[in-house]
Amino acid sequence: MTFTVAIDGPAAAGKGTISKAVAAHFGFAHLDTGLLYRAVGRRTLEGEAAETAARDLRTEDLERDDLRTAQVAQAASKVAVIAEVRAALVDFQRAFARRAGGAVLDGRDIGTVICPEAEVKLFVTASAEVRAERRYLELTAKGQDTTRAAVLADVRERDARDADRATAPMKPAEDAVLLDTSTMDIPTALAAAIAEIERKMPAK
Ligand code: DC
Repeated sequence: MTFTVAIDGPAAAGKGTISKAVAAHFGFAHLDTGLLYRAVGRRTLEGEAAETAARDLRTEDLERDDLRTAQVAQAASKVAVIAEVRAALVDFQRAFARRAGGAVLDGRDIGTVICPEAEVKLFVTASAEVRAERRYLELTAKGQDTTRAAVLADVRERDARDADRATAPMKPAEDAVLLDTSTMDIPTALAAAIAEIERKMPAK
């Protein structure tokens, strides 16, 4: 059986947490597609051209533990604007989406560009302030030195770049179900996601 769940939305809206939990619940494989762009962004910080890095991306690049910093997130958002970088990453994502046993992919353009045929499409969002507060708590818990104002500015800058780019901009697919987690806790959002997936799953 192939069954694709596309989960898109801006940074820190809760899509990573929801995607992981949904995949565990249904026994689906999970791909955080942001990691692909982060790995390319990371290599550009080391002086490599983005297009080359995207073309020869390896599994080891995705396993580096320094992909979760604000600096790498900004670099990821910048390389994600380049059409050649996006094109180099399409086949890997599509193959992952159609693997046997079901797959959850989270990102910005999964429901619109990578998997327009996905059986389920969710767009997980929240206000910039709520997302910045979550990200601030996450970063400081990991010992990173930052301020609320810096994190909010960062979130806004990345949102604008991701939503305004010409190629595959972040936006909900027309047939996506919107989940606004601004005032929803994770268990509630997760229950809504699971209910939507069950509704679309083929009857056994
Ligand atoms: O989800 P994330 O914060 O790890 O993503 C980092 C950046 O990568 C994000 O700002 C934009 C880009 N990205 C993208 O353009 N398309 C995706 N499917 C996933 C991420």
